[in-house]
Amino acid sequence: MVDASTAHLDKFWQRGKALLGVQYPIMCGAMTWVSEPRLVAAVCNAGAFASLACGNMPPDELARQVAHTRTLTDKPFAVNLITVAPNYLAHLEMAVQAQLPVIVFAGSMPREQEIEKAKASGAQVLAFASTDALAKRMVRYGVDGLILEGMEAGGHVGPVVGPILWQQILFQFSERVPVFIAGGVATGKMMAHLLLMGASGVQLGTRFVMTDECVAHPNFKEEFRRAQARDAVTSPQFDSRLPVIPVRALKNKGTLTFAKLQLELLQKLDAGEMEREAAQMEVERFWIGALRHAVIEGDVEHGSLMAGQTVGLVDEIMPVALLVKELIGDAERELERIARTL
Ligand SMILES: Cc1cc2nc3c(=O)[nH]c(=O)nc-3n(C[C@H](O)[C@H](O)[C@H](O)COP(=O)(O)O)c2cc1C
Repeated sequence: MVDASTAHLDKFWQRGKALLGVQYPIMCGAMTWVSEPRLVAAVCNAGAFASLACGNMPPDELARQVAHTRTLTDKPFAVNLITVAPNYLAHLEMAVQAQLPVIVFAGSMPREQEIEKAKASGAQVLAFASTDALAKRMVRYGVDGLILEGMEAGGHVGPVVGPILWQQILFQFSERVPVFIAGGVATGKMMAHLLLMGASGVQLGTRFVMTDECVAHPNFKEEFRRAQARDAVTSPQFDSRLPVIPVRALKNKGTLTFAKLQLELLQKLDAGEMEREAAQMEVERFWIGALRHAVIEGDVEHGSLMAGQTVGLVDEIMPVALLVKELIGDAERELERIARTL
C-alpha cells in the first residue's frame, strides 16, 4: 500500500472503494498480453485495482493465471471477459468457479443471464459502456457499476468521445450506480475533476504500460515514450463492404500496410475478381497475433501498438507504487486547491 493522504478524495470515492474492496478505486484496465499476474499483483499491492486480461486464452491458462496472481497478492482483482472471444463462455464459467470478487464484461453486450450468473457467484459485476444505449441496457440488466470508455482510449474503441459520455451517462446514472471513467485519464488532476463530476473511480491503461512491472518489451515502451497524442489513431475503414472494428493504436508500418491491403481488396471487389467474404476474411486475418508481436517480441514496425491518446501525456517509466502515489497526491492537491478557491 502506498502512503498518501486521501482526506478530500475520501469524500468522493467511497462507493468505488466499496465496490472494488480497495483503498484506491484507480483501476488498471485489462490489456491483452500486458495485464498478466505480475502487473495485476503490483497494482493491487499498491492499494489500487487491476483486471487480468483474458483475451482468448485457453480457459486452463486463465485458471493458472488466476492462481498465480493469488500467490502474488492477497488483494482483490478481477478478470476481464471479452464477450466476443470464442472462449468467452468458458472464461465466465472459470471466473464463477474461482469466486473472483469482481467480474468485468467487455467487448460488446453480455446477455442478461450471463450477468445474472456472474452476480449469483457473489461477484460485483462491472460492464463497459461506450454508448448511452449500452449503458442504459447494462443498468437494466443489473450491473453493479459501469466503466464508461470514450473513443480516446487505447485498444478496441466505441464510437463516442468521453466528454459526451460523461454528459449522457455519468451525469444521469452516477446516483444509481458507481461509474468509473476510462479513456483519456493520465493524471491525478484529471481524476480529481472526474470525481467532482460524479465518477466513483477511474480506469487507466496506457499509463500502466509505462511501469517497471509491466512485461511489455522495451521497444513497445520506447514507442509510447516518444509518441504524441495525435499518433494514437483508430484503424481506418474505407468502405462499408469491408467493415473494420476500430482499434486505437500508434501509427506504424503495419497501419499503412493495412490501409493498402483494404484498397487493393476493394479494387478486386470492384473488378469482380474476389468474393466479399474472402476479402473480409483477409481484413480480419491481418492483425491476428499483431498485439503479441509488438508487446512480447518488440516488433514495433509491424505489430499492433495499441495505445490511448493519453500516450501524449506519458514519457516516463516508473514503479507502479510510485505511479499510484503520484496520481493520489496530485488528485488530493487539486481537490484541496478547489476547496480553498470555493
Ligand atoms: C495495449 C492495450 C491493450 C488493451 N486490451 C484490452 C483488453 O484486452 N480488454 C479490454 O477490455 N480493454 C483493453 N484495453 C483498454 C484498457 O483496458 C483501458 O480501458 C484503456 O487503455 C483506457 O484508456 P487509456 O489507454 O487512455 O488509459 C487495452 C488497452 C491497451 C492500451
